Amino acid sequence: MDKSAFFKLSYGLYIITTKYEEHFAGCVVNTVVQTTAEERPKLLVAVNKENDTNTTMKKSKKVNISVLSQDADMLLIGKFGFRSSKDFNKLDGTEYLTGNNGIPIVTQAVSSYIEADVIDEIDCGTHTIFVLEATDAKILNDKPVLTYDYYHNVIKGKTPPKASSFSN
Ligand SMILES: Cc1cc2nc3c(=O)[nH]c(=O)nc-3n(C[C@H](O)[C@H](O)[C@H](O)COP(=O)(O)O)c2cc1C
Repeated sequence: MDKSAFFKLSYGLYIITTKYEEHFAGCVVNTVVQTTAEERPKLLVAVNKENDTNTTMKKSKKVNISVLSQDADMLLIGKFGFRSSKDFNKLDGTEYLTGNNGIPIVTQAVSSYIEADVIDEIDCGTHTIFVLEATDAKILNDKPVLTYDYYHNVIKGKTPPKASSFSN
């Protein structure tokens, strides 16, 4: 199989956030997809089982999705994409607000956000696919959104092994 064919797939970049009791977790993902468009649209997100965000989402059943804009810097992406919420509170030094569902939403270098309930889970080997139902959403500004292509080719960012699209 020529795995370079997968490099032609297009994605956006997001920070998903969740909270169970007093524990906050959140991470960078590229795997958010809107799947339906009814009153409360449904979405999917694939999260590695070793990520603290996965464990915390399973307990909390709530998650918020922040759509990153092109001004996201490597300090923000490094904090949420290369370090674990098990080790420290990623909200320290990060701009955020609290959603109607009581879960923090990152607003730093973010164009819009979606609040959602976890309504189902699909086991996908290394990752869990969470099926989400949106409960609220808001546009914050008109800044251009950060795509995976822009992240790799302009910011020259890397992808860690726990991302869905990692390749050696
Ligand atoms: C560009 C990029 C894309 C990523 N995409 C995903 C993804 O789709 N799913 C996932 O589980 N992790 C993805 N990651 C990796 C997680 O963000 C990373 O493992 C993070 O440290 C997990 O943090 P946590 O332990 O606090 O949940 C990505 C990271 C980067 C930098």
